[in-house]
Amino acid sequence: MHLDDELSITEHLEKVFTKAIATAYPSFSNVPVVVAAVNGPSKFGDYQCNNAMGLVKKLKEAGINKSPREIAAEIQKCCPDSPIIKKIEVAGAGFINVFLSKEYAVNSIINMLRDGVKPPRVPRKRVLVDFSSPNIAKQMHVGHLRSTIIGESISRLLEFMQHDVIRINHLGDWGTQFGMLIAHLEDCFPNFVNESPPIGDLQEFYKESKKRFDADDNFKKRAYNRVVSLQSGDPKSTKAWQLICDVSRKEFQKIYDRLDVTITERGESFYQSRMLAIVELLRSKNLLELDEGREIMWTDDSKSGIPLTVVKSDGGFTYDTSDMAAIRHRIEEDLAIWIIYVVDSGQSTHFNTIFKAAERCGILNPNVHRVDHVQFGVVLGEDGKKFKTRSGDTVKLSDLLDEGMKYSLKQLQERGRDQILTHTELVEAQEAVAYGCIKYTDLCHNRISDYVFSFEKMLDDRGNTAVYLLYTYTRICSIARNSGEDFSNVAAILDKYNLELDHEKEWKLAKTLLKFHDVLIKCANGLFLHFLCEFCYEVCSAFTEFYDSCYCIEKNKDGKIIKINHSRILICEATAALLRTCFKILGLKTVAKM
Ligand code: ARG
Repeated sequence: MHLDDELSITEHLEKVFTKAIATAYPSFSNVPVVVAAVNGPSKFGDYQCNNAMGLVKKLKEAGINKSPREIAAEIQKCCPDSPIIKKIEVAGAGFINVFLSKEYAVNSIINMLRDGVKPPRVPRKRVLVDFSSPNIAKQMHVGHLRSTIIGESISRLLEFMQHDVIRINHLGDWGTQFGMLIAHLEDCFPNFVNESPPIGDLQEFYKESKKRFDADDNFKKRAYNRVVSLQSGDPKSTKAWQLICDVSRKEFQKIYDRLDVTITERGESFYQSRMLAIVELLRSKNLLELDEGREIMWTDDSKSGIPLTVVKSDGGFTYDTSDMAAIRHRIEEDLAIWIIYVVDSGQSTHFNTIFKAAERCGILNPNVHRVDHVQFGVVLGEDGKKFKTRSGDTVKLSDLLDEGMKYSLKQLQERGRDQILTHTELVEAQEAVAYGCIKYTDLCHNRISDYVFSFEKMLDDRGNTAVYLLYTYTRICSIARNSGEDFSNVAAILDKYNLELDHEKEWKLAKTLLKFHDVLIKCANGLFLHFLCEFCYEVCSAFTEFYDSCYCIEKNKDGKIIKINHSRILICEATAALLRTCFKILGLKTVAKM
């Protein structure tokens, strides 16, 4: 069998066993093959196929009585040769154990060193990722922070896998709240058309206008009036709306810059004319129904679940209407065939309804399009309750990031790093640790669950934390640097020295690195980043074991280098390259020194 280098190990082995089963038992050639990596002592092999047990029953039904061990032996005999397999053994009740070939591993690592870390090969798709999506004039809260972090990483993952990714910020920049904001702006800054109003705190401004809205009927009337004039495109109201949006936009951008997030704004207002069009479409298909003055849409004839409110009784549109217009635009104009919404779990009913409705009216075809609501749990404070400041207010994201910076500086000082690093190096390390640990904590938990926000825990340098990973990474990088030789020209080193995986710990580390493609495929299938975090931790742990028992540089009593193990330093370099790729996806910045 020819080695197709771009297949992951599991994919490759699945192909091998599919062929073997088809040869041994042609009438059962369609059984799904299950191959998994073995965690534990390597006498049981590195990967395992457990299909023999399942086949016992199937064969019995066909009148053939065979033990799982016999079946396993027959499958083993029929396995085509593969360059990645050293040997296949049948063990225990009928397990088929695969031992990987060292030559294959050596080659893979050499390729990684020469050509860089490559993605697994998957069919390329146009994917639209809707994430972050805060609301104008309202606080960007920790829920939006989770969406921002997860959405950015999903985009990076899919980009690395060569997909064509469109990143969209579905900003809440439209709706009736703008009426009161505009009316209040007119009163506070009558000259706003010529002179930008100095609104420092938009939240305060929002609160003030809401107070007036609730207390003053005249103001309320004017506010309603401004909604109408804004929606009909009146230049003065449009200008006021833009000014208000700009204030929020600048605040959001500061957060994105700090977290190194790239996103294109396409807020709800973008769909104004498209909302009219979708309402026309739904009316023409007789999908709208009158309900106490509103126009609603059920997702099926049984009228179960919750209908969409497409047109309000006052003729206005809703969150539902803009999401219907958006999904249509994404499918019909962006030509996305995979749409991902990174929004908290609280909105799962909303998205399920939107997906079903889009299918019902013929926009979405489940055989062609994939839609995912990537939901996530809430962030809790250390008291186990919803994350709040001491005074009970929602936490301002910029304050949270500032606090992270303080904690990380404190930690670096405790390690005496402020004495060793230059000022620039120190600030870089401080940012890498602060933002890295905030992102990593969010990504390393299964996103569905809630998690407790604690700087103490996230800055721990033991266990599966960003700090542990970043320290391990800088340690790995320092090895080649301290060897006194130039490892940046890998090709030259590879011409002179062989890469060997003889030591048990070298071999264990190598096999861990080779899981990379399988891990990425698993992450992309379910859109779960915690698998990648677990993998980073596994790599760092395997590296630590390797480094504890395999010398890379030998020194004499005076600290003079007497021997360099080039092969091992190459393994270090490959490990560093792989970690760098993973960190990039997770949004962790690496620094040479920390
Ligand atoms: N602005 C919304 C909120 O803060 C999130 C929007 C998510 N995206 C979407 N297409 N509905 O809850």
